Amino acid sequence: MSDSRPIGVFDSGVGGLTVAREIKNVLPHESIIYFGDSKHLPYGNKSPEVIQQYSQNITQFLIQQNCKAIVIACNTASSNALTQINHLAELHQIPVVDVITPVAQKVAYGFHQKMGIIATKATVDSGIYKKRIRKFNRHIKVQELATPLLVPVIEEGFAQTEISKSVVNIYLSNKKLEGIDSIILGCTHYPLIQKEISEFFNGKVQVINSPFVVAHALKDILVKKNILSDSIPEYHFYVSDITKNFQKLAHKFFGKSINLELKLLH
Ligand code: DGL
Repeated sequence: MSDSRPIGVFDSGVGGLTVAREIKNVLPHESIIYFGDSKHLPYGNKSPEVIQQYSQNITQFLIQQNCKAIVIACNTASSNALTQINHLAELHQIPVVDVITPVAQKVAYGFHQKMGIIATKATVDSGIYKKRIRKFNRHIKVQELATPLLVPVIEEGFAQTEISKSVVNIYLSNKKLEGIDSIILGCTHYPLIQKEISEFFNGKVQVINSPFVVAHALKDILVKKNILSDSIPEYHFYVSDITKNFQKLAHKFFGKSINLELKLLH
């Protein structure tokens, strides 16, 4: 039986489109409702309480839209609001996939000895990556580093320029990351500067592609629950504030032109 209800995907802005794009590739028959909370961006410098409040409002909206699963396509919301989101979704028996747990699980069973994580301040402050990875494998050394300047650099259109290269070089030269064999891009914006990051390490450090892992984790759940769709998909992209810059960025993040619709929650 086919279940054509959409997948709800959300982020603080357009970064989560890197996850939506991968879901579209891995699950081409699934409809997607995306919500980017651009009015409240960035989440990365906010308190857990505020991140939880915004995330709960968006989850309510996605539940009202009849979504059959929710993907938290934001590391900051995944690390600070997962319990609250799960609680709401469970009331409606809707599965939730966050962007951290499936990645932590996957890397824990790989051949890594020392891993680096780069992410927003709120994600690093939560210590979530270290906790999750070491829950599955306590022998891996995990170093988390806050790299807050990277989101505005990407948002302002400076990815793959000398500016992003310099900021990446300064951050990644941090002593904490010495000797790592792999690095997780712990922010959904960072796939846009993956090239600079790989180049900094001369291709010798494995860069983990989180959106790919997350899309496959979602697929496993849909298969297990027998709620896959075989229909022609529909995509809706809502944001809480629209600017020309967002429209341009959305194209970059999703890989093709999309129409952003304004949606104010409360
Ligand atoms: N996309 C968010 C994340 O993955 C970062 C952007 C923000 O700070 O809002 O953590």
